[in-house]
Amino acid sequence: MSYIDVKGLNYSYTKKKKVLKDINFTINKGDWVAVLGHNGSGKSTLAKALVGLIEPSVGSVEVDGLELNQDTVYEIRKKIGIVFQNPDNQFVGVTVRDDIAFGMENLAVPREEMLKRIDFFSKKVQMEKYLDKEPSQLSGGQKQRVAIAGILAMQTDIIIFDEATSMLDPFSREDLMNYIKKLHEEGLTIIMITHDINEALLADKMLILKSGEVFAYDDSQVLMRDKEVFVNSFLELPVALEIANFLSKDKYSDIKEKLWEYVSMK
Ligand SMILES: Nc1ncnc2c1ncn2[C@@H]1O[C@H](COP(=O)(O)OP(=O)(O)OP(=O)(O)O)[C@@H](O)[C@H]1O
Ligand SMILES: [Mg+2]
Repeated sequence: MSYIDVKGLNYSYTKKKKVLKDINFTINKGDWVAVLGHNGSGKSTLAKALVGLIEPSVGSVEVDGLELNQDTVYEIRKKIGIVFQNPDNQFVGVTVRDDIAFGMENLAVPREEMLKRIDFFSKKVQMEKYLDKEPSQLSGGQKQRVAIAGILAMQTDIIIFDEATSMLDPFSREDLMNYIKKLHEEGLTIIMITHDINEALLADKMLILKSGEVFAYDDSQVLMRDKEVFVNSFLELPVALEIANFLSKDKYSDIKEKLWEYVSMK
């Protein structure tokens, strides 16, 4: 049985324009899915629909066998954590500590356990020295790290990252990606919205949106070999794919195979 099941999802913010058009896909428990698509293709809107922040005009979302609606939304939010694109939108507390605690409070995590997790996850994102600071005093990247710590601390089965690493410096990003890889190995289901093709290459599957529709959804290994998919959905090509395409003559076929190997390495 699929873990997340999206059927015939449609959504419009205004009467004029449909933002999500008949979206259908399923995600299995433990999958890592990268969601790609040009600006305005509907990625963040889809993420909001998955956690019940917007209600589809037509269609349904099912998580772990539960259909998302007003009665189940609380239950479903215990299973899915989300880090939003803009860190300014996710702060509610007076201090960084309050902010990391916020999601756990909603899950009624016992206080002792909560303190342990605040300690562990603030260190994980190198923000342990800022716990008593006001979130408004932080840089964009630091805010994003606090938001990530808060979501990781909830220890949900699924996490959606909506361009969550775009504000991080290369070192923080690599650190976080390594930790996410570890969580994935332990069974976390990951939905990672990203413009960074290298980040997307870490995923088992890629879901590519184009103008509110699912343009492609397949194993990353399969999609990575298809230049047309990337070109037609206005996405950057993985460098190795670009080079491999360039080396299209037969005498280079060995190099081409090597490059496929390289690009497929996780
Ligand atoms: N609150 C809103 N009210 C009206 N229209 C909106 C709203 N939020 C998004 N839209 C529109 O919906 C469409 C999809 O937006 P969405 O934010 O889901 O795209 P995205 O793929 O996440 O883009 P980006 O890569 O820039 O983050 C866009 O045309 C956008 O202008
Ligand atoms: Mg977005």
